[in-house]
Amino acid sequence: MKNIEQLLDNNRNWSDATKLADPEFFNRLYERQKPEYLWIGCSDSRVPANQIVGLLPGDIFVHRNVANLVVHTDFNCLSVLQYAVDVLKVKHVIVCGHYGCGGVEAALGDQQFGLIDNWLGHIKDLAYKHRDQLKDLSPQQKSNRMCELNVLEQAANVSRSNIVRYAQGRGQTLTVHSWIYSLKNGLLKDLEA
Ligand code: CO
Repeated sequence: MKNIEQLLDNNRNWSDATKLADPEFFNRLYERQKPEYLWIGCSDSRVPANQIVGLLPGDIFVHRNVANLVVHTDFNCLSVLQYAVDVLKVKHVIVCGHYGCGGVEAALGDQQFGLIDNWLGHIKDLAYKHRDQLKDLSPQQKSNRMCELNVLEQAANVSRSNIVRYAQGRGQTLTVHSWIYSLKNGLLKDLEA
């Protein structure tokens, strides 16, 4: 475990190295951001958006929450989506889940965790909706399938949002993607046909 001063040291080193490699890097980004991608992912520390897709600061607008949920009444997530679509005019919204998601697995179990159980209730609802296809699976298969179904559901929620529908109605170019990440090998998979 690194101590907190180490993080500030790391930051100075990173800033120096970045300026050395590209002296205009920070000046360029200071002017404005123009990311083409919005990432909606899990808060899990093992799934850092920029790093796993090889993008730099300025390239990707990010919203993360536990289990990458897009809930129609979550004004935090919806505000990010609206700003990204209407103001930044991103071209792609990537909903990215991951196998072995603690939020999904907690929702499949019976243990109580407090406040977060309410948030995870959305995943419990989803498991109930898909109970027929889940009932004969092993716990591992069930977890994997639910992680996939969750990504597909949240991407559908993005697509059904009035933000995305209005943008498409205006003829704005916008594609919604459903991706899932493997903690075992660091690879992403596109779940859409
Ligand atoms: Co997760």
